[in-house]
Amino acid sequence: MLVARPSCQQWLPPPPPPAKHRRSPTTFPAIRATTDPSCLRPEPAPSAAGKIKRLVLTPESRTKLDPFPDREFYSYPRFVTHVDDGFIATLTELYRERLRPEHEVLDVMSSWVSHLPPDVKYRRVVGHGMNAQELARNPRLDYFFVKDLNKEQTLELQSASFDAVLCTVSVQYLQQPERVFAEMFRVLRPGGVFIVSFSNRLFYEKAISAWRDGTAYSRVQLVVQYFQCIEGFTQPEVIRKLPSSGGGLQDGNSPFGWIARFLGLLSGSSDPFYAVIAYKNFKPVFE
Ligand SMILES: C[S@@+](CC[C@H](N)C(=O)[O-])C[C@H]1O[C@@H](n2cnc3c(N)ncnc32)[C@H](O)[C@@H]1O
Repeated sequence: MLVARPSCQQWLPPPPPPAKHRRSPTTFPAIRATTDPSCLRPEPAPSAAGKIKRLVLTPESRTKLDPFPDREFYSYPRFVTHVDDGFIATLTELYRERLRPEHEVLDVMSSWVSHLPPDVKYRRVVGHGMNAQELARNPRLDYFFVKDLNKEQTLELQSASFDAVLCTVSVQYLQQPERVFAEMFRVLRPGGVFIVSFSNRLFYEKAISAWRDGTAYSRVQLVVQYFQCIEGFTQPEVIRKLPSSGGGLQDGNSPFGWIARFLGLLSGSSDPFYAVIAYKNFKPVFE
């Protein structure tokens, strides 16, 4: 179910047209038709879901310590910030660099904040998450919908309808990442970007075993493999920004870094920043 701003009321589908003109009720433009002139643009040609070349995870590495359904864990809103100001500033700058105002953006596994540059208005921002109250409070979303991606990975969104997909500090909770990445490939337009960012914080009992038991290095490699297992994503690009480097790009797991952070000797961000980025088919060149 998609919910639209500004009323934030439940979207109710219009009465069905005669059978021969009927379009799938699960396609996104049905909602656009009442709210947005861009629905007049021709629909993009449908594109295939990303083909999964191989599975990255074993059944064991997909398990979580908390066996209860995710919807129970997310049944009440958490109006908290999951990462610190330094991480958010780095992410916002990355979005400023990679996204363009004419972009249609899908923010998956979102909540009440989106970390997009506040001064940039994008053509459309659609949010997905697990808690409707959090999403309704997110000021950047034009629409939102709730779906448990560990139960079902297909999104009720048209193929090739977004220029960017964002996933912030959440990838560690995916138990079927290969299928989710294939679905993100499907909804992206050719040349569209998927930006997955994360730090070292997590709801430990909700993260999959491959993440919980991993290191900073192996977690980055895991996300790289999620991209590489889908046919058609470009070679993933990795960005690391670690506090012990004073803002430089490096791996910051040195014992000195940890001790210095513990003693408060390092100023600025204490949350390491990682982003893994890939494009559908090709990386566009902007002027
Ligand atoms: C740490 S929060 C991050 C929220 C937001 N991206 C941010 O940057 O603040 C983790 C998010 O992952 C999402 N999530 C967790 N498990 C999920 C699941 N099974 N299906 C879909 N989304 C899930 C929820 O929306 C939750 O808000």
